[in-house]
Amino acid sequence: MTEMLRIADLRAEAGGREILKGVNLTVEEGETCVLFGPNGSGKSTLLSTIMGYSTCKVTEGQILFKGQDITGMSVDERARLGIGMMMQRPPNIFGVKLGDLVKASAKNREVIGQAANFKLGEFLDRDINVGFSGGEIKRSELLQLTAQKPEFILLDEPESGVDLESIDLIGNKVRDLLFDPASGSERHVSSLVITHTGQILDYIGADRGYVMKEGVIQRTGNPADLLRNIKQNGYGE
Ligand SMILES: Nc1ncnc2c1ncn2[C@@H]1O[C@H](COP(=O)(O)OP(=O)(O)OP(=O)(O)O)[C@@H](O)[C@H]1O
Ligand SMILES: [Mg+2]
Repeated sequence: MTEMLRIADLRAEAGGREILKGVNLTVEEGETCVLFGPNGSGKSTLLSTIMGYSTCKVTEGQILFKGQDITGMSVDERARLGIGMMMQRPPNIFGVKLGDLVKASAKNREVIGQAANFKLGEFLDRDINVGFSGGEIKRSELLQLTAQKPEFILLDEPESGVDLESIDLIGNKVRDLLFDPASGSERHVSSLVITHTGQILDYIGADRGYVMKEGVIQRTGNPADLLRNIKQNGYGE
């Protein structure tokens, strides 16, 4: 099995503070791994560092994607290699229409025609995220990922703040991205998913769970067991 992602002894700063304090984590080909952890523990910072956002500065350690060291690469280089991300709080992009971005990044031009399936038919002419509601932003992020068709997907709380009906839509669309359409039961795309509630896992399943606390991976295990334990006992001392 190919190793898609390896994070080795990763330390990173944001806003001049060290947030990631020696993170070790791997995701194998076809795996979905879940990242749990209390608010402020560094989960989004880890995903942003993997994607290469300039707000996060690596001070030590390595990020390997399919064996290649990508630690010093730019965001667009990482995107071209096949890494995509659904952000927790993406920025407003004034002056760029959602439809234009989707068209520019789409490997398959037909994605634009799918906007209605994401309940975004009326949004293609709007500036990206400007005035979008919380749930609309999630669907827009997912439409963009569907256009990009990455090989490895970072999902930061895809279901948080989403109404129950739209959770179904988001869960099924994420499933479409990860699973091979021919077999329907085998994952052909790997992912690292942050969730507090585990709701998204009802749609995509998960192979392995990690719990992050204070900038390090504190525990690893079966995702369902970890979630049950967190619900019963919290995140512990
Ligand atoms: N640019 C920044 N400047 C200062 N502090 C930052 C910056 N980015 C992140 N932090 C801090 O780093 C810590 C980790 O933030 P992060 O967003 O990674 O947490 P999280 O685990 O994703 O939390 P949540 O579950 O609430 O989304 C927080 O205390 C946050 O305030
Ligand atoms: Mg976060």
